[in-house]
Amino acid sequence: MIKQGYQRGLLCGIILLLIAMASCGEAPRPEPSHLKTEDDYIKPLPGPSDTIAATTAAKGEVLIGYSDCATCHKEDQRSVGPAFQDIAKRYPVQDVYIKYLAEKIRKGGSRSWGYAVMTPHETLTTAEAALMAAYILSLRQRP
Ligand code: HEC
Repeated sequence: MIKQGYQRGLLCGIILLLIAMASCGEAPRPEPSHLKTEDDYIKPLPGPSDTIAATTAAKGEVLIGYSDCATCHKEDQRSVGPAFQDIAKRYPVQDVYIKYLAEKIRKGGSRSWGYAVMTPHETLTTAEAALMAAYILSLRQRP
């Protein structure tokens, strides 16, 4: 009798374990990455946006043309780095963001858009890097 009770208990234990394992398989799965919205990637920052003078943007565009930015950046498509248009969608035109981006252009870095690393450009002056950043942010003014 005692042995039978023990066996029944063991059997119940095994059945409970199987039920627990089966229900684990139904745990909610994380959303597939293709269901992410554009905003999850862009992470647009709130705040008013100034306008950038066409002459300033033009100077920045020329400087970018003379540097190596095009190896990793396209204007309207992601490549190694984010599309310049996407950068313009994240940061409103404000001095603080132009300064931040100029510093990032000079120092390089990663983790702001993903794990790819941007190389430093320390031969650029802060003023040159700021003109480049201004050009990039001016893209949000385009229709
Ligand atoms: C070796 C590839 C590479 C080159 C060359 C490069 N970039 Fe980048 N850039 C990246 C990557 C990768 C990122 C994303 C970094 C991140 O996620 O923080 C990036 C990000 C940026 C950002 C956004 C930074 C932020 O924090 O939002 C700006 C602005 C930028 N690059 C401008 C430039 C300019 C201007 C040049 C040329 C002087 C340039 N990049 C050259 C790879 C590159």
